[in-house]
Amino acid sequence: MHEIHLSLIDSTNTYAKIHAETFPQNQITCITAEEQSAGRGRYQRTWLSPRGANIYATFYFTLPLNTAHLISLAQVMASSFANVLINEGFSPKIKWPNDIQVNGKKISGILCETQFCKDHVDLFLGIGINVNLDEQTALKIDQPATSLLIETGKNWDKKELLKKLQVQFEKDLETFKEDGFSPFHKQFESLLAKKGETIRCFDGKKMWEGICHSLTAEGQLNILLSDQTIHTITSGDIK
Ligand code: BTN
Repeated sequence: MHEIHLSLIDSTNTYAKIHAETFPQNQITCITAEEQSAGRGRYQRTWLSPRGANIYATFYFTLPLNTAHLISLAQVMASSFANVLINEGFSPKIKWPNDIQVNGKKISGILCETQFCKDHVDLFLGIGINVNLDEQTALKIDQPATSLLIETGKNWDKKELLKKLQVQFEKDLETFKEDGFSPFHKQFESLLAKKGETIRCFDGKKMWEGICHSLTAEGQLNILLSDQTIHTITSGDIK
């Protein structure tokens, strides 16, 4: 993996998009930063990125234009990080589509951006992981949030954790290239937060209310509506 470490940047995703042409095209480039001045989340939200506390990383790579299940790639990264956490002894859940939670609080979020070129797709898979974020700073986040420090009371080695994620993701990306999202489907479904509970999910147009039922083989969310029909959501956010 080609690695670039920055001290201060607006956003590692933005940096990667500007410099993508200069990165090697036959491997993953991982851009990390100590601090982001304009860390970005999904739906134009900001991602709190204080200096030194957390992992802010963007994985850049290219895929063929006809790659199946491209919209599920952020979920592959969620699955990679969930498995890193499981190996460390945690019991993470994934709030669909790709927020990783520990004890019901968000510990990591993923922002997947794409650029369609003539003969390939550029992927910018950004992940923020709250590692050594203290409790007081976590309260500034607009939703219940936690960190490895808050959960365990000890400081974590960011470099070591990132390495574990890189190794896991590199392996998972190869699996995805071969077989799409299907190999991740069952474990992902078993890690779904709020499974069997009533949820409200906004798909960009409409708010759907129903029971968080299951996952399609491509990673979309099936909601059981009150009329007992299943509605499938491709992109959105559980409220
Ligand atoms: C979300 O949960 O809304 C996604 C958050 C993604 C944050 C990461 S931090 C590294 C990369 N750079 C950014 O500006 N955003 C992503």
